[in-house]
Amino acid sequence: MQSSSSNSPLESLRPVLNLLADGEVHSGESLGAALGVSRAAVWKQLQKLERYGLALESVKGRGYRLPGGLNLLSGEAIGTALDPAARELLRELILCDEVDSTNGQLLLRMEEGCGHGVAMFAERQTAGRGRRGRTWVSPFSGGINLSIGWQFNGGVQLLEGLSLAVGVALARALAEFEVPDIRLKWPNDVWCRERKLAGVLLELSGDLTDRCAVVVGIGLNVGLRGDSAAAIDQPWIDLQSVRAGIDRNRLAASMLNHLLPLLRDYPECGFGAYREAWLALDQFAGRPVRLQSANQAWTGTAVGVDMSGALILEADGEHKLFHGGEVSLREAP
Ligand code: ATP
Ligand code: BTN
Repeated sequence: MQSSSSNSPLESLRPVLNLLADGEVHSGESLGAALGVSRAAVWKQLQKLERYGLALESVKGRGYRLPGGLNLLSGEAIGTALDPAARELLRELILCDEVDSTNGQLLLRMEEGCGHGVAMFAERQTAGRGRRGRTWVSPFSGGINLSIGWQFNGGVQLLEGLSLAVGVALARALAEFEVPDIRLKWPNDVWCRERKLAGVLLELSGDLTDRCAVVVGIGLNVGLRGDSAAAIDQPWIDLQSVRAGIDRNRLAASMLNHLLPLLRDYPECGFGAYREAWLALDQFAGRPVRLQSANQAWTGTAVGVDMSGALILEADGEHKLFHGGEVSLREAP
């Protein structure tokens, strides 16, 4: 497995971030000495950190600190926590401080033929993507933003239900850290305590009838600050408020431990292998819901998913199936 980190405007701030990551107070003088720059240069760097949304605190007469510290992603720490199967499947691990979108970057790699088995994490995304052109809010070190590229032979129908299966894999990873109250919302969300904790975005490229590629994108909130989360227009939650102290590197590795074998096996086993697990975590099982497409709405009771991952809506004694992603599911008012 190859491991690398990529260039970004934040790269020049890495040394000061690494010093402040411990959450302790550091004087301007000690920072300057450790970085080999003047106090004025330190001050400039600290101002930039604030522009990236990091809550730097100035402690009168003593210096500066990042309250709570930072648990930065590290290729070495992730690599150490990978299990042997994942290590074998992972061709390249890329860590970025900042990119527009890890999905966008991996799609480019897939088109260049060098994205298979590549996992990319970003501390911050400037244009994180949700479904249908929506935005995924991903402030620096506030979550885990991960994309994995995978090449399949045999056409896109083999991937039916994959976004739901990815949800099951994420729930399994979170269970290893004893995160309580995890549920799955059809088709692509992980919820916790009635709020959105994570989202899954699958993007495809290549020949959809034969050799095609999928980029599996996952955004998971670990610790979002209120000001950066203000742009989220629906109820959200982060891990910090339900199970504090989870190590992001171990969680990142656990996600890969569950996701890489899933991608390897999915063309053979399909959603059938995950359906029971998905149903056991169904956020809306037996609840009244409303489904909304661009120009139509349906109401009824959500009664699970079929073997392909299609949502089953019960209304007027009949079952109606909804496939894939062009409809939005909400609890009925
Ligand atoms: P659906 O389309 O199924 O109704 P949805 O409303 O969750 O689902 P998605 O496109 O799946 O929509 O996800 C994007 C949405 O997620 C955004 O419009 C925003 O409301 C929300 N969102 C963005 N960033 C975050 C975040 N960090 N945490 C939780 N939710 C977020
Ligand atoms: C959703 O709920 O709509 C899906 C959100 C997916 C967000 C992740 S973050 C990593 C990857 N890169 C992106 O630009 N989006 C996905």
